[in-house]
Amino acid sequence: MPDFDLIVIGAGPGGYVAAIRAAQLGLKVACVEKEPALGGTCARVGCIPSKVLLEASERYRMAREPLAPYGVVVGEVGLDLAAMMERKDQVVKGNTDGVAYLFKKHGIERFTGVGELAGRGRVLVRGADGDTELVAEHVILASGSRVADLPGVEVDGERIITSDHAIALQEVPKRLVVIGAGAIGLELGSVWSRLGAEVTVLEYLDRVLPTMDREISREAEKVFSRQGLDIRTGVSVAGAKRTKQGVSVELEVGSAVKADLVMVATGRAPYSEGLGLEAAGVETDAKGFVQVDDRFRTSLEGVYAIGDLIHGPMLAHKAEDDGVAVVEMIVTGAGHVDYDLVPNVVYTDPEVASVGKTEEQLKEAGVPYRKGVFPFQANGRARVLGATEGKVKLLAHQQTDRLLGAHVIGARAGDLIAELVAALAFHASSEDVARLSHAHPTLAEVVKEAALAVDGRALHV
Ligand code: NAI
Repeated sequence: MPDFDLIVIGAGPGGYVAAIRAAQLGLKVACVEKEPALGGTCARVGCIPSKVLLEASERYRMAREPLAPYGVVVGEVGLDLAAMMERKDQVVKGNTDGVAYLFKKHGIERFTGVGELAGRGRVLVRGADGDTELVAEHVILASGSRVADLPGVEVDGERIITSDHAIALQEVPKRLVVIGAGAIGLELGSVWSRLGAEVTVLEYLDRVLPTMDREISREAEKVFSRQGLDIRTGVSVAGAKRTKQGVSVELEVGSAVKADLVMVATGRAPYSEGLGLEAAGVETDAKGFVQVDDRFRTSLEGVYAIGDLIHGPMLAHKAEDDGVAVVEMIVTGAGHVDYDLVPNVVYTDPEVASVGKTEEQLKEAGVPYRKGVFPFQANGRARVLGATEGKVKLLAHQQTDRLLGAHVIGARAGDLIAELVAALAFHASSEDVARLSHAHPTLAEVVKEAALAVDGRALHV
């Protein structure tokens, strides 16, 4: 008799959600996690701590700059970085403890140690007190991802850092260079810029957020440059080396950028080493992603993989969706994730969010479309908030009017995109969204107006 019905390796958003869903469906579940805290990269060193620092640094910036026009007079504003970091640690602890509570509530057995696949249905837990072998009918690999290596830039955790370190700096660097203008580079670059660092962002491609719709990423570049980020696109980094005073980032063109710190934010790689995959017969591709079929099955029977370890966007909510789907497939036979409808959000200020196809993708595929754009500037609530930057851009099929893509840069874009995910999921037309009643005065009216704009009949411009 196996010890468990299911063993999950990794307690990030993919793994812990899979464990909970399995327990809900009546399985006896074990979860193996190498860190003492549950919740994975997202809760410990990723989504949650970075959002705490984004919120805190934005409050600091607001207190220093634009309160006078609101009629609010504040005294001298100061920065207590240690207190800010302390609050971040408390919020992180609240989240990781929350996962531990959920495990208890659902009767999920937790093992602390490095999980290694020892063959079909067998997992070795290498813990501080020795090894334990667990046996189960099914194993889900959910070990997530790590910061990808960048040739010539060797992370030392002091001068050459990653996001893991950038969420825990003890002082504000005078000059920070960020390599990569993706979500991590722009979010953490914004945090340290707001707290007083001079931040230079070096991006290899010709625009920031290169996976987003081009018009939106152009707008993002303008807005973030205005905020003080020194964004340089089309820049190829040859390497970085420590100097007496700090660090020097060497560019391919021969020049160098000097800084106190450099943060590498050029992407993440699957965390597939040390899992015993090769010996157990689980196939990976050249980049280390575990190969799965459309039911998350690896090449070894009874072993599945989800989240950052497999194809698709490396996002916490995508891993959660994978986790629920794989368990439902195992237990009920049916589960589903629509990868075309996974929203992507960057939590800068303003936020950037998207779902579905970009204008470039539609052009490339030869799909005829109409476009509706509406600026936050023309929305009453945005003016109340003093958050008038940005726009909503909707793309709908020219003949059927079915919505194909939605792109937002503006206040609370990450919340606004939820309506558009639902609209795309239910095959709504732009007219459907335009005819829905949107409360006034809300930012959501920008979405409605953009839907009206697809047919050239926006009301407030
Ligand atoms: P990313 O893949 O989103 O962005 C990396 C950026 O670095 C790209 O713009 C790329 O063109 C650039 N780049 C690559 N090599 C370069 C080089 N040698 N020199 C200069 N630029 C170079 O990766 P990022 O920001 O590190 O994030 C990793 C993963 O985590 C991504 O999948 C991201 O979506 C996810 N994430 C999501 C967040 C969110 O949803 N808000 C927040 C943080 C991370």
